Amino acid sequence: MDVSGKTVVVTGAARGIGLALVNELRARGAAHVAATDILESVHDTPADSRHVCDVTDAAQVEALAVEVEDKHGPISLFCSNAGVLNGLDLSFENAGGASAEDWALSWNVNVMAHVNAANAMVPRYKAQGGGYFLNTASAAGLLTLIGSAPYSVTKHAALGFAENLAITHRDDGIRVSALCPQAVNTAMIGDDPNNPAAMDGIISAEDVAKAAIDGVEAERFLILPHPNVDEYFRAKAANYERWIGGMAKMQRQFKV
Ligand SMILES: NC(=O)c1ccc[n+]([C@@H]2O[C@H](COP(=O)([O-])OP(=O)(O)OC[C@H]3O[C@@H](n4cnc5c(N)ncnc54)[C@H](O)[C@@H]3O)[C@@H](O)[C@H]2O)c1
Repeated sequence: MDVSGKTVVVTGAARGIGLALVNELRARGAAHVAATDILESVHDTPADSRHVCDVTDAAQVEALAVEVEDKHGPISLFCSNAGVLNGLDLSFENAGGASAEDWALSWNVNVMAHVNAANAMVPRYKAQGGGYFLNTASAAGLLTLIGSAPYSVTKHAALGFAENLAITHRDDGIRVSALCPQAVNTAMIGDDPNNPAAMDGIISAEDVAKAAIDGVEAERFLILPHPNVDEYFRAKAANYERWIGGMAKMQRQFKV
């Protein structure tokens, strides 16, 4: 999909990858980029409009779609990008040991926000004969993030939902891309090379945004800004047993 001239929504746009997506979309000529975040600081994002919205609340996401479409025309691209990383435990005490609050927050932001976006946008996209979702998952949704089961599990679910969305609505003219980066230099992991996500280096949010919009313009489902991820995913599929053993071995170097 050519993003120029389009009305676009970006969630999680107060900072990081969301902010970089806003900048990239505007540089490529999007007609209206609506930046949204749960943080009031989204008002500092250089977008065409700014909206405070908690994406875990379906009613707020619906109200956002109504407001943007009423004022700025039909939305063509919804970038469901907000996410949280919590429950990271490098003592590896218990994979299921994150608090109930951390598990619930991960499900609500990393999975249900994509469901809320679909519920707001699918009927609109069907009515206008098509539309696009760019859903930010993670390489952790294809592989795993050593030390955080809540993040790894919910990013797998995010990818599973993106697949299902793409298949269910292909004949409705709806297209989906799933953005799956490894480590990116944002507030989420910072620039700490000792973070397990950073094994293959940390790239900038700007480079991720460029890769993401290139992927949307090519209408590619899987967008992998780190080329190594494709190789690791293939190795996992080719020999799952060996991959589990290799990941367990790798984990030993991160134990605190
Ligand atoms: N940074 C990385 O290494 C990395 C790697 C792979 C995937 N990702 C994914 O990229 C996306 C963006 O993350 P980032 O790295 O820019 O991190 P970030 O923490 O800088 O940005 C995430 C944004 O999401 C917002 N957000 C959180 N909960 C929200 C809610 N309930 N409603 C609305 N907004 C909410 C935050 O306020 C924040 O502005 C996330 O989905 C993340 O999981 C990040």
